[in-house]
Amino acid sequence: MLEKIIEIAKEAGGEIARFYKGNFAIEFKTNKSDLVTAADKASEKKIIELIEKDFPEHNILTEEREFVNKHSDYTWVIDPLDGTTNFAHGLPIFSVSIGVTRGNETLFGTVYDVTRDKVYYAEKGAGAFENGKQLRVSSNGDLEQSLLVTGFPYNIRQNPMHAIERFNAFLFESRAVRRLGSAALDFCYVASGIFDGFWEVSLNPWDICAGKLIVEEAGGKVTNFNGEEIDIYSKPILATNGIVHEKMVRILQRFND
Ligand code: IPD
Ligand code: CA
Ligand code: CA
Repeated sequence: MLEKIIEIAKEAGGEIARFYKGNFAIEFKTNKSDLVTAADKASEKKIIELIEKDFPEHNILTEEREFVNKHSDYTWVIDPLDGTTNFAHGLPIFSVSIGVTRGNETLFGTVYDVTRDKVYYAEKGAGAFENGKQLRVSSNGDLEQSLLVTGFPYNIRQNPMHAIERFNAFLFESRAVRRLGSAALDFCYVASGIFDGFWEVSLNPWDICAGKLIVEEAGGKVTNFNGEEIDIYSKPILATNGIVHEKMVRILQRFND
């Protein structure tokens, strides 16, 4: 099954690559920052086609379409293009994210970094890998020497959720903070030991599903801002190497309402 998911993510990446830096249709969703492109749609179409061919009885939760409910225990949770803003501007940081859940549990997760041709994947209980190399989170426990990453939601103007205050606080408490623009890759870079921690105030299940499993299988920890266990439907997320987790929770909690 994992091999099949990886194959599907790569095929979808191939669809996206056909559009990259060319001319493609762009539409606005909730505002002028919240885009969907022809590449998002082509990737999603390809993924759905391939799932329906091999797993026609499974549910499909995907960003740009209605939920396909087949009343199965299995649900595919898909972000057909994570990092659409980067993609639309020609910045080579975007991915395809596919997770498969059974009930509340994520069994498989795959994130395909399209421009670098790197595939990150994990199976519950079997470790996390990047192109065959096992992943391990960093072993750094000193927040002042940590490299962190975050992202911002498209509704930040209406509901800032203290995203800026939290960003400011971590700027002063860490070595540096990055904002890459693909949450799925942010998780993978925590799993790889590049980032020590990643937080975001409001994500969606398709941003979280695969990445959360990949971090956990690389020895990391994923919770909400209070350090509590979460499922993929949690909005706020904190993913770390596990060692800086409590320190980050304390900073995030300064801004709880
Ligand atoms: C977005 C990216 C971004 C994150 C946003 C997401 P999209 O996903 O993951 O890094 O900060 O919250 O919505 O719209 O490019 O699929
Ligand atoms: Ca996304
Ligand atoms: Ca997306």
